[in-house]
Amino acid sequence: MFDLVIRNGTVVTASDVTQCDIGIRGERIVMLGESLPAGRDEIDAAGLYVMPGGIDSHVHLAQPSGDGIVMADGFESGTRSALMGGNTTVLPFCLQQKGQTLREALTAYHALAEGNCLTDVSFHLIITDPTAGVLGQEIPALVEDGYTSLKVFMTYEGMRLHDNEILATLDAARTSGALVMVHCENEDAIRFLIGKHEEAGDVSPLAHATTRPVAAEREATHRALSLAEIVDVPIVIVHVSNREAMEEIDRARKRGVKVFGETCPQYLMLTADDLDREGWEGAKFVCSPPPRDEASKAACWQGLEQGIFDLYSSDHCPFRFDDPAGKLNDKGKTSFRWIPNGIPGVETRLPILFSEGVMKGRIDLSRFVALTSTNHAKLYGLYPRKGTIAVGSDADVTLWDPKAHRTIHNADLHHGADYTPYEGLEVQGWPVSVILRGRVMVKDGVLAADPGSGTYLRRKRSRS
Ligand code: URP
Ligand code: ZN
Ligand code: ZN
Repeated sequence: MFDLVIRNGTVVTASDVTQCDIGIRGERIVMLGESLPAGRDEIDAAGLYVMPGGIDSHVHLAQPSGDGIVMADGFESGTRSALMGGNTTVLPFCLQQKGQTLREALTAYHALAEGNCLTDVSFHLIITDPTAGVLGQEIPALVEDGYTSLKVFMTYEGMRLHDNEILATLDAARTSGALVMVHCENEDAIRFLIGKHEEAGDVSPLAHATTRPVAAEREATHRALSLAEIVDVPIVIVHVSNREAMEEIDRARKRGVKVFGETCPQYLMLTADDLDREGWEGAKFVCSPPPRDEASKAACWQGLEQGIFDLYSSDHCPFRFDDPAGKLNDKGKTSFRWIPNGIPGVETRLPILFSEGVMKGRIDLSRFVALTSTNHAKLYGLYPRKGTIAVGSDADVTLWDPKAHRTIHNADLHHGADYTPYEGLEVQGWPVSVILRGRVMVKDGVLAADPGSGTYLRRKRSRS
């Protein structure tokens, strides 16, 4: 007998859309077919889309963010918010502080996550201090232990790596089989522009966007791709915001570089005009790279439709707005330079793409699943355990009501931020029930599980 049968739904994977039932025993899918026998529990999914649970592979939780600044989500609120938005797995970052070993950093993050998660989780390692020990010993050993992805920054003082350090990290990744995510913005150009703007007394949130121009992202994207080409290793260009960076990815692919592209809701839905809202309201939209213009939004949509992008992630990096530990900290009120970078979005990622992408006919259902779940699982070593609906896979399933109309209001969300950048946005389609490894976590929009239901995932190497 099955423990759970999901009946009468339209099952969507990255390759197919079919009418069938799903039989679940324990944590796994054990049968797909028509008119399956009864289960101990049953869900009638008539009129609903039955999709693999969302996997958000770019999420920041409980990450130290500078003097007195506190991220608005730890593992409990962050994964609750993710779950309520239709996700069953998130991949947050484990930030190596300078002078710290990666093992020390991991010990701290595991302690924060342990017993608190409502989705499954796994960490990417942010490398800020690529010492000989980190590159020669820790990375190879940690990849064997299932930490199979790294992130490096080309911007942010104190976090950015110089080209020689990026090359050495890429080389260590190549030897050990890790996949490297790269944040591409030219730090020196940005510092130069920040100095100029501050000198001229232009300190408003909008100056965050003007001091991080497309050229700074395009140049760094080109450089990252060239460094990866020199080392001959695949990379992921994360949070791409505009056409020129997309063209760099396209050109690199055409000359044989293995590169994966990621974009995020903010580059599809927001523009720099949002940073120019009344007073300091614009601080709510400060993230890096910044949202650009209408043409860039259109380009990013095209990139999702036409395959430049493999991944659609939230880059959830939440800070409270009206809070001395958030966007409007004492220094944040004096210059854009001190406004913490990042916006919340883990709960709204999927409804936005479903509504603006699927319901508006820009992408089909299978592409939606590929962009929000399957490709993340494949790229980050979780497939086929995660990211699909197949016999033997974890029973991670989200039921979507394509007829549900909602208006996004922060009051209805579950993150720790006191705002959403998408306040008032009307969407069609909502994830109504979420099942994690066979357990019904959200039932008809109501949370039905406790923190600690999520588990840590040891990952394989990328299937890139
Ligand atoms: O502004 C952003 N994106 N903050 C999060 C950190 C990052 O660069 O991904
Ligand atoms: Zn980044
Ligand atoms: Zn990020």
